[in-house]
Amino acid sequence: LPQRKFVLTSPVRAIEELARNTYRLSIYAPEIARTCRPGNFINVLVPHCEEIYWRRPFSIHQKNSQEGTIDIFFVAVGRGTNALKDLQPGNFLDVIGPLGNRFDYPSTMKEAIAVAGGSGIAAFQFLLQDLKSWSGQKTLFYGSKSAQNFCCLEEFRELGAELHLSTEDGSKGEKGLVTDALESYLKTNDNNKGRELFVCGPTPMLKKVQEMTQQIGISAQVSVENKMACGFGACMGCPVTIAHPQPGGKKYWLACKDGPVFPINEILLDD
Ligand SMILES: Cc1cc2nc3c(=O)[nH]c(=O)nc-3n(C[C@H](O)[C@H](O)[C@H](O)COP(=O)(O)OP(=O)(O)OC[C@H]3O[C@@H](n4cnc5c(N)ncnc54)[C@H](O)[C@@H]3O)c2cc1C
Ligand code: FES
Repeated sequence: LPQRKFVLTSPVRAIEELARNTYRLSIYAPEIARTCRPGNFINVLVPHCEEIYWRRPFSIHQKNSQEGTIDIFFVAVGRGTNALKDLQPGNFLDVIGPLGNRFDYPSTMKEAIAVAGGSGIAAFQFLLQDLKSWSGQKTLFYGSKSAQNFCCLEEFRELGAELHLSTEDGSKGEKGLVTDALESYLKTNDNNKGRELFVCGPTPMLKKVQEMTQQIGISAQVSVENKMACGFGACMGCPVTIAHPQPGGKKYWLACKDGPVFPINEILLDD
């Protein structure tokens, strides 16, 4: 059944700077907290910015059903996110959600491996929260430029995840790209049966994971971060290209409605 979406004016409960330029914003949105699933997102109207017409999409980072709150986690990269970072508790935010599909847990899953690059980590707190009482192995590969960009590490451990950190400058964890660490893990622990990858990050990282999963033969779901407008399938503004069975053929899905979570082997990633 399609999920019901709510249009809410939600009070901001808290905002914290987790790392340089990286924020966690908590809002009171009980209807969304009650019904959202890992992978879903909300579409946020940037307040007091009439020149920003389109809403900005953010994954649901975590929820607290008892308190009726949901959090988003974002990096301030442009006009919208820089306006959101200045919100204060008590301000109001116009949000639509929950939107999009969710991560899928195959019944054969024995190990859930989340793979995040930079702000791609946002959705995985909720995934780990959802899997907290699940008895399988939870593993998180998390890459960033430098040690000071990492967020929520203790929280991920408390949710039962085994952490594998990578930094490009070698200041924490393994030096190199997160995909290097993932590749050696998948190749050394060569029984990949029952492993499911959940992936979010910049396009070069997604391409590398796509290549690796095809070589190794392992299933992966990717959450894409396309530009969006309406967020629910009305404007056709967020196409994702998928390979069509005919040679050289293509087909289009909508990131907001058919996604944002897709099987990694079905989508064609842009250069
Ligand atoms: C389903 C979904 C979930 C998302 N979840 C999160 C999340 O949890 N946390 C988070 O930090 N971001 C997330 N994003 C990305 C987020 O929506 C953008 O960062 C945001 O819209 C930028 O708005 P802005 O006005 O600050 O930037 P703009 O002023 O619009 O753009 C500033 C710069 O950022 C680049 N940019 C804009 N949008 C994106 C994008 N989608 N991906 C990469 N670069 C972009 C632009 O090309 C430009 O260079 C998500 C995107 C989607 C589609
Ligand atoms: S954002 Fe409008 S159709 Fe996807």
